Amino acid sequence: MQDIINTAKSLMDDNKGLLAMDESNPTCKKRFAALGIPQNEETRRAYREMIVNTPGLNESISGAILFDETIRQQKKDGTPIVKAIIDAGIIPGIKVDKGAKDMAGHPGEKITEGLDGLRDRLKEYYQMGARFAKWRAVIAIGNGIPSRGCIEANAHALARYAALCQEVGLVPVVEPEVLMEGDHTLEQCFEVTEEVLRMVFNQLYAQCVTLEGMILKPNMVLPGLDCPNQESVDDIADMTVECLLHAVPAAIPGIAFLSGGQSSELASARLNAMNVRFKSRLPWALAFSFARAIQQPALEIWNGKEANVLAAHKALYHRARCNRAARRGEYDASMEIT
Ligand code: 13P
Repeated sequence: MQDIINTAKSLMDDNKGLLAMDESNPTCKKRFAALGIPQNEETRRAYREMIVNTPGLNESISGAILFDETIRQQKKDGTPIVKAIIDAGIIPGIKVDKGAKDMAGHPGEKITEGLDGLRDRLKEYYQMGARFAKWRAVIAIGNGIPSRGCIEANAHALARYAALCQEVGLVPVVEPEVLMEGDHTLEQCFEVTEEVLRMVFNQLYAQCVTLEGMILKPNMVLPGLDCPNQESVDDIADMTVECLLHAVPAAIPGIAFLSGGQSSELASARLNAMNVRFKSRLPWALAFSFARAIQQPALEIWNGKEANVLAAHKALYHRARCNRAARRGEYDASMEIT
């Protein structure tokens, strides 16, 4: 267990954070299609190679979460992508859930699948070099939802996954995502997020998960995308930290937020505000595990073309650096003017 605890600590060390580059093929397809990038195995490989070749990425990124296809791929020169990540001083991680599927008896709600055969898959990923894993549950807010049944089932699956990870030596990144879609208020998101987190930690306790050897990856507490009232950065920072203080045990080493569809700049600004206002008083690190909020500008610049790789590196390096600054409470909008 000490190795797992040390890995969890290293992932949160030095004001760094995680880069989620674990989009499933359907999600990657969606992101590429929106930009007119051809959608096939080779373009996905080339895109991921572009990311891992970014010079200096490890100045801000401690760990990178891969998708199953990527952990088995090589760079053009034959180097396995997972080796390139390790050589760059970044800890490789792996997404291990099999996606959120419609939940029987619960219209509008999802349950994440992937527990069957998970122990053997985790052992294989460990042998391939992964030292942490991720499982994402999604909770929607809407008319009469989320239901207790949905919250309970997803929290239970997260806890079963986390226990299996620790058994094989992987740090579980536990991701219960309350979605931004909808017109719910900030207060509604607060209530649902608190309820979900309390249930998740109850289940983690029941499944004997060592809290010191895991990372929580939650949503920030935000008003729905269609809510007419969009609170200030500082209000969101206050509500998010208050919610986490209610529900997250002090024993976990860190909280690494997902970005969930916020713009890159807002995600950095909100994380920054939390650290400016609360960092010295919190028991856990407040970090990031963003996919879109780190990758999107670089993806748009890259656009599937070799000629754009250097410019894409610059954009990726910049976003990673902004988020490391946000961990220190030193991010400023002036960093965005290049
Ligand atoms: P976003 O930061 O784009 O929400 O993705 C984080 C993630 O890993 C979702 O599982």
